[in-house]
Amino acid sequence: MKILVIGGAGYIGSHVAREFLDQGHEVVVFDNLSSGTEENLFPEERFIRGDIMDYPFLEKVMSEGFDALVHLAAFKAAGESMIKPEKYSLNNINGTIHILNAACATGIRYIVFSSSAATYGEPRYLPIDEEHPTNPENYYGFTKLEIERFLSWYDKLKGIKYAALRYFNAAGYDIQGRIRGLERNPANLLPVVMETACGIRPEVQVFGNDYDTIDGTGVRDYIHVNDLAVGHVSALEYIMKHNTSLTVNLGSETGLSVLQIIEAARRITGRPIPARIVGRRPGDPAKLTASAKKARELLGWQAKYSDVDTLVQTSWEVYRPHAR
Ligand code: WQD
Repeated sequence: MKILVIGGAGYIGSHVAREFLDQGHEVVVFDNLSSGTEENLFPEERFIRGDIMDYPFLEKVMSEGFDALVHLAAFKAAGESMIKPEKYSLNNINGTIHILNAACATGIRYIVFSSSAATYGEPRYLPIDEEHPTNPENYYGFTKLEIERFLSWYDKLKGIKYAALRYFNAAGYDIQGRIRGLERNPANLLPVVMETACGIRPEVQVFGNDYDTIDGTGVRDYIHVNDLAVGHVSALEYIMKHNTSLTVNLGSETGLSVLQIIEAARRITGRPIPARIVGRRPGDPAKLTASAKKARELLGWQAKYSDVDTLVQTSWEVYRPHAR
């Protein structure tokens, strides 16, 4: 099939594009390189530099005809979204409306959407399944939930079938080492730990160690990007085969604490990785773990590479050459 991967030069998007290529599909990447990088592109795919906010150009690109599109173009810094909601409204919500309207205008009927566990907010129970209440705690999560609602209406009114994939914490790098672009100014734990291991960053600030968890630090469900990428292909195959829409978690179903990640990184990198306990980060829940039962049963999907050693080792392979 011919797939348009919007945001395919980004950290997750490039792994998704790679998986579609590996499974024999034709891939066109559309990206504005605001956070993605040309270093993450592959010779087998076509790259079009463009912005989802430029509706006329977006519609022109989509009018060449695609069997489906994957939408991973969004700002994703939860903390920033609480300071600059207008930036997230424009890019995440208006940008997605452009994609939906251009899909209607050009006859693209299948969309895989990068949603997030942030749609759930504070967990009422664990592990979190897709029936869990959705009360996002940050504006980023709100934009993802609102987009899911737009998708549902475009299904009802225009017959667009979608897969909304609620990622938990994406981490790691391609196990074959084919993707090596570093995220710029990362806020997520794994790249922060890696930058500290390289000496790019002086220390890891641990946001609180007084949570009711195994060691007092925050526990999250880390999912390897290769596992995430396979989930995108499986989800597209499912919605096309059954001509239906789907909302599903993609998580490893295991929880790892901040200190467990840091300890694994010290062991694997052999670097000291200084860490300092500071105050909690507002809005952080103590623990977030996914139920992936629905993905397992409907998609036959299961995380394979999301153990802590693979997450850290594959990240270190990419960061190590940057060590000072
Ligand atoms: C993980 C854990 C922090 C940095 C966010 C988004 C979510 C999704 C994943 C896109 C927490 C702790 C972190 C640091 C720390 N993004 N931490 N020091 O907040 O779970 O989720 O990214 O879909 O939508 O909200 O990820 O990596 O920021 O934090 O102690 O320097 O690491 O408190 O317990 P988070 P994270």
